[in-house]
Amino acid sequence: MTPTRRTFSKYLYASSFAALVARVNCDASPEGSGAEPWWKTAILYQIYPRSFQDTNGDGMGDFPGMTSRLRYLQDLGVNAVWITACFDSPNADNGYDVRDYRRIHPDFGTMDDFERFMAEAKSRKIRIILDMVFNHSSDEHEWFKQSRSSRTNPYRDFYFWRDGVNGKPPTNWPSFFGGSGWEYDKTTGQYYLHHYATKQPDLNWENPQVRKQLYAVLNFWAEKGVSGFRFDCIGEISKPLPFRDMTPAELKEDGMALRCSGARLDEYLKEMRAATNSYPDLYFVGEGWGMSRQEIVRATDDRNQELNSAFRFDFELQDITDGWRKLPWSLPNLREFNRDNAFEDNHHVWPIVFLEDHDFARSVSRFGSDRPEFQSRSAKLLATMLLALRGTPLIYQGEEIGMTNFPFRDVSQYDDIGVRNLWNDLVVTGKVSAADYLSNNALTSRDNSRTPMQWDESPNAGFTKAQKPWLAVNPNFHRINVQAESGQPDSVLSFYREMIRLRNSKSSLVFGSYRDISGKFPNIYAYVRADASGRTVVVLNFSNEAVNFQLPADIAVKKRLISNVSESQAELSNIIRMLPWQSAIFE
Ligand code: GLC
Ligand code: CA
Repeated sequence: MTPTRRTFSKYLYASSFAALVARVNCDASPEGSGAEPWWKTAILYQIYPRSFQDTNGDGMGDFPGMTSRLRYLQDLGVNAVWITACFDSPNADNGYDVRDYRRIHPDFGTMDDFERFMAEAKSRKIRIILDMVFNHSSDEHEWFKQSRSSRTNPYRDFYFWRDGVNGKPPTNWPSFFGGSGWEYDKTTGQYYLHHYATKQPDLNWENPQVRKQLYAVLNFWAEKGVSGFRFDCIGEISKPLPFRDMTPAELKEDGMALRCSGARLDEYLKEMRAATNSYPDLYFVGEGWGMSRQEIVRATDDRNQELNSAFRFDFELQDITDGWRKLPWSLPNLREFNRDNAFEDNHHVWPIVFLEDHDFARSVSRFGSDRPEFQSRSAKLLATMLLALRGTPLIYQGEEIGMTNFPFRDVSQYDDIGVRNLWNDLVVTGKVSAADYLSNNALTSRDNSRTPMQWDESPNAGFTKAQKPWLAVNPNFHRINVQAESGQPDSVLSFYREMIRLRNSKSSLVFGSYRDISGKFPNIYAYVRADASGRTVVVLNFSNEAVNFQLPADIAVKKRLISNVSESQAELSNIIRMLPWQSAIFE
């Protein structure tokens, strides 16, 4: 299957089309001007390797599979790819428990496969970013095996070991995946700390040897030509010491704010950056979960030489509580978060913009419309927003074809350790009913975004030749798949391609200032992006009803650049009629 590069779009107005093609053809992206670092103009795509493309029939995606799909990503307009956790691991948490930081996961192939992948990516001008899980390792990592073997082992201090208190764990810290955050180890009669699963002991960054080893890992991969790193749980690496019990207030969100309040975070990040200074182009993007805005600003302000960007979860976590329960989300909160995340108060901060990743449910099911007539349109509306905000946009695999949540019904259908552990803690103990737990998890579980990529209509969506993939394919793959959508000019996939081209052709969409002009319209989200080259106006209708949206008095629009509804807009005036779930960008 080879997706064809389309040369005409029904979304683009003919008048703007010629100009756009002219600009896009001479330079596919603003990159290359040299004035700004490459990652500010990148279109970043996240691959979840286990679910992307299997080639050897074992039901799991692999590097040869990723290599075979680079052409697809290039055609989409992607120029940087984040490969989700891909190192050797016993898979207690799908690769987020690393056994060897210098070895490709055997499920995904060999170092040779990785190197072939890198070479092919380079020839397609696609940069590669790897996931660095440095807050914890696997308990099967050599360091931990040594560490647990005796109290005097040189690696003892690579992790946090403490005595229990009256036969109980040292503190009341819970694990994010259920149960206590301390595990008793009878070999030496002490407990070790694990914010996540018992098989994910937290590394002790206080120990300079730990830091030295981790920085060496970064240089090892930089040497192989990778262009950056995504740092897992980065806010948690500096612990608030000495350890003490969490207060009831701190226990909110499992104590995330306290865990991220260690005093040495900035010091570590600066040191890590300096340790890799032979590679000044590396993009460092942190998972900023649990970090306050102030902490994120400090860690990503370009004058501080720490991270370049950080994922923020303030909005993403608003419609989930206790790690599984669904709450409603609200458009005012989305608008407020996007305003906040544009960092108009400090342009030294460069954000990353995302709606989906491997830890959340699918965005179209979450923020779009489930009504069949609006599903694809609302996925395009979300694409419009994602690609028209200040910051590097991240597209998560399958988002570009409008993949939806999976119809989960039974706990046996889940792979996620979080879902299975909490089932034991909550349902098996009778605290929560099975029906309540299951209906909420069907909407919130991260397994929703981990089902295999839907390539075509063949069995298992062309993902694997195995009878059974590691996680079931969404039954809607006959309708939602790359091959079908490649041939449809009005598909979600075609829209993504157009939207990426539009972003690349308008510097205001990348670098422009941000101003919300939604005014008093409850279902409209509208904003202006402006720079020296001009002004673009983005209007999104997040509802099943048409709205006559009135622009503020000081804004006039001349031309529609793109819309997810192909009928031409009535005469442009200061009142814009927006159909249900319509999105449009004007200049
Ligand atoms: C991050 C990852 C998530 C993982 C956790 C523990 O949040 O994105 O998938 O379970 O860290 O490593
Ligand atoms: Ca495979």
